[in-house]
Amino acid sequence: MSERGNEQVGVGIVGCGVISDIYLKNCTTRYESVRVVGCADLVVERAREQASKYGVEALTVDELLSHPEVELVLNLTVPAAHAEVALAAVASGKSIYNEKPLTVSAEDGRTLLEQAAAKGVRVGAAPDTFLGGGLQTVRGLLDGGAIGEPVAAAIAFYSHGMENWHRDPYFFFQPGAGPLFDMGPYYLTALTSMLGPVRRVAATARASFPERRITSESKRGQKIPVNTPTHIVATLDFAAGPLASLAASFDVWETTHATLVIYGSEGTLALPDPNTFGGPVRLLRAGGKEWEEQPLTHDFTDNSRGIGVADMASAMREGRPHRASGEMAYHVLEVMHGCLESSLAGQHIELESRFDRPAALPRD
Ligand SMILES: NC(=O)c1ccc[n+]([C@@H]2O[C@H](COP(=O)([O-])OP(=O)(O)OC[C@H]3O[C@@H](n4cnc5c(N)ncnc54)[C@H](O)[C@@H]3O)[C@@H](O)[C@H]2O)c1
Repeated sequence: MSERGNEQVGVGIVGCGVISDIYLKNCTTRYESVRVVGCADLVVERAREQASKYGVEALTVDELLSHPEVELVLNLTVPAAHAEVALAAVASGKSIYNEKPLTVSAEDGRTLLEQAAAKGVRVGAAPDTFLGGGLQTVRGLLDGGAIGEPVAAAIAFYSHGMENWHRDPYFFFQPGAGPLFDMGPYYLTALTSMLGPVRRVAATARASFPERRITSESKRGQKIPVNTPTHIVATLDFAAGPLASLAASFDVWETTHATLVIYGSEGTLALPDPNTFGGPVRLLRAGGKEWEEQPLTHDFTDNSRGIGVADMASAMREGRPHRASGEMAYHVLEVMHGCLESSLAGQHIELESRFDRPAALPRD
């Protein structure tokens, strides 16, 4: 237990866009380990709107980073700003929790971990869906031997992109996003949090279409240049042995085909959508023909975004490792960069980073 005991950790939120609503809602009403001090955005009006909606202070980014009551900065900016905002927070002596991906470049991710270690502050990162009731149920089944020894896994995320619903979808088609960096973290974090680190990857990737046309309301008709691969197929060799396949696309019209499966020596687990916190969790036993839906063993099955921040805040007070760690997020970043690098090089890429598998959440 730290000298500050159970005192709530003061949180400052930078980035008041689409995803900030659920974080502000959950962090101001649901999680006792945190107290949202204020929020900031480059667009001052957005910070003011969110501040008045959730009863927190509207601040400039500089005010937030120097605020004495802010111990932890929650960075909900677009991927291109993740590193800059996070490094500034660390330089101000604050712990940082970034939305995904941790940073755009792997180099920035490494620098962030190094600078945070030098300053004695923590780095955490989304996604935290692996702490939801659905994926924690899977974790319990795996650790309890329900499918024996894990042998393989499969990730398939197929869609036709974000330009039909997001108010400002430009960033989804730039480096740091695309289906791999935008959706991949959910799938990869779910698997790595359970199976541990990946040893090497091989992949092939391309952008099937050089530009996209926005069909969502506010910017309807505008074109977006595509500057990152939008269809990726890959293989991942986990250090512990299992081999996984990965497909991620913003280029195809099949929208029902999203899959996350872990295959074991004694059965198969069909995982819930890792972009959600609930179920269903389904088990097929060796030799069986019927999938059995498993009862969920853990709470946090609704939209619990921010649970990773709340766990990080408790961990700061309890002096234990937090679960949604910067090290795991950096490893996921290295896996994703490894995929793009492999596609360009036409060969396997060996990965260097490792992390400790996060502790399972207790049932209560
Ligand atoms: N939209 C979603 O459904 C969703 C879901 C999960 C995660 N995320 C992640 O959350 C992050 C934000 O996504 P979003 O959809 O809310 O984007 P958004 O564009 O709606 O909001 C981002 C906000 O950050 C602000 N911003 C950008 N650079 C800044 C800077 N340097 N300093 C201060 N503010 C800055 C922008 O003005 C904007 O208001 C991304 O990393 C994304 O991957 C989004």
